[in-house]
Amino acid sequence: MAHLFNRNVLLGVTGGIAAYKSAELIRQLQERGARVRVIMTGAAQEFITPLTLQALSGNPVHTDLLDAEAEQGMGHIELARWADLLVVAPATADLLARLVAGRADDLLTTVALATPSPILLAPAMNQQMWRDPATSRNVATLLERGMKMIGPAEGLQACGDIGPGRMEEPATIAEAAEALFESGILSGKRVLITAGPTREALDPVRYISNHSSGKMGYALARAAAEAGARTILVSGPVRLDTPEHVERVAVNSAQEMLEACMARLTDCDIFIGCAAVADYRPAEWQSEKIKKSDQEMTLRLVRNPDIVASVAAAEPRPFTVGFAAETNNVIEHAREKLLRKRLDMIIANDVSDERIGFNSDFNAATVLWPEGEQALPQASKENLARQIIALVAGQLPVVN
Ligand code: PMT
Repeated sequence: MAHLFNRNVLLGVTGGIAAYKSAELIRQLQERGARVRVIMTGAAQEFITPLTLQALSGNPVHTDLLDAEAEQGMGHIELARWADLLVVAPATADLLARLVAGRADDLLTTVALATPSPILLAPAMNQQMWRDPATSRNVATLLERGMKMIGPAEGLQACGDIGPGRMEEPATIAEAAEALFESGILSGKRVLITAGPTREALDPVRYISNHSSGKMGYALARAAAEAGARTILVSGPVRLDTPEHVERVAVNSAQEMLEACMARLTDCDIFIGCAAVADYRPAEWQSEKIKKSDQEMTLRLVRNPDIVASVAAAEPRPFTVGFAAETNNVIEHAREKLLRKRLDMIIANDVSDERIGFNSDFNAATVLWPEGEQALPQASKENLARQIIALVAGQLPVVN
């Protein structure tokens, strides 16, 4: 399984002799399905050229914090948000110390501070430097803060010493990166997710719909499957591939989506309603194309069933999560929907901001449940989906 499929991996390269192995690491990450961008420190460029890593990654290499041109395109905050994972390989003793101090004096340390995503470090240094108490303390502090580490390996070093300090092999680092996305937190659970828009037909060629691309719901399905859940995606019409290990049930209208969900509820522990379901459908469906005649035409619409509320009213019911797409008083309206629809959790989504929400690759949300809430700052939908799945797993009732 390509666990890094569709993942944005930002590779930080610092100034150590192992920097030459970063070239192979890019290939290993790409083979596992990742999109790779590279940040190099000044010292790293003494060991390997940005051109080499640009050619391999297929993207310009980022080197400067204060580069006006870069800031107009993919600046440091955009890079930090783009990344689903920051891998630093090699990570020198100096880089570890600067991370501990929270420095932001070059692009790599600034992005490390600014990213909401996990950080994986592959240390590489002389064995005595690795054994030094200062480095040991730095490593312990970074692990305590939640950063992950792979290696170093033991063996003959470039300086002639033998001991711990060699950077792990690129394939091992790529495997560690993959493993970060396999949490197992929903292992044994059955998850049903709705995604995309619904289409409410007027006649054989016309319909009422909305701008939902399905990206958020598909990212949730991928995150749920990677968390070990048996995942079914009931999807309106979208142009997306079905995530690996996810079963997709294709529907068009709200009524079809409701039927597909209700038929699968007995086998469901968690329901997540992410679809942008049309609230109304045309009162009549014309079997032949409606001809234009008068200057004006009146459409009569009737209410569609509320799918997430129907699921929450079922007996027995799964842990039921809804979304609230709002343009004003976002949290207030979302909390009202949480109570009115009797949900266990709701994801408040401000869709007035065009950079996030409908159709964008990015989103930001506040997750609300009866006794609490958590804001999730802007990140890729893949990243946000993993955070939502972690919060859902954390709120599930404990079964004895
Ligand atoms: O698909 P993308 O382009 O990635 O965009 C993602 C998204 C913006 C569509 C998604 O993040 C989102 O906010 N989905 C919910 C959209 C919506 O219909 O919100 P709502 O506030 O109108 O509905 C509240 C909840 O009721 C939602 O869980 C919705 O799925 C559900 N609902 C609504 C109407 C209805 N008839 N049946 C429902 O189940």
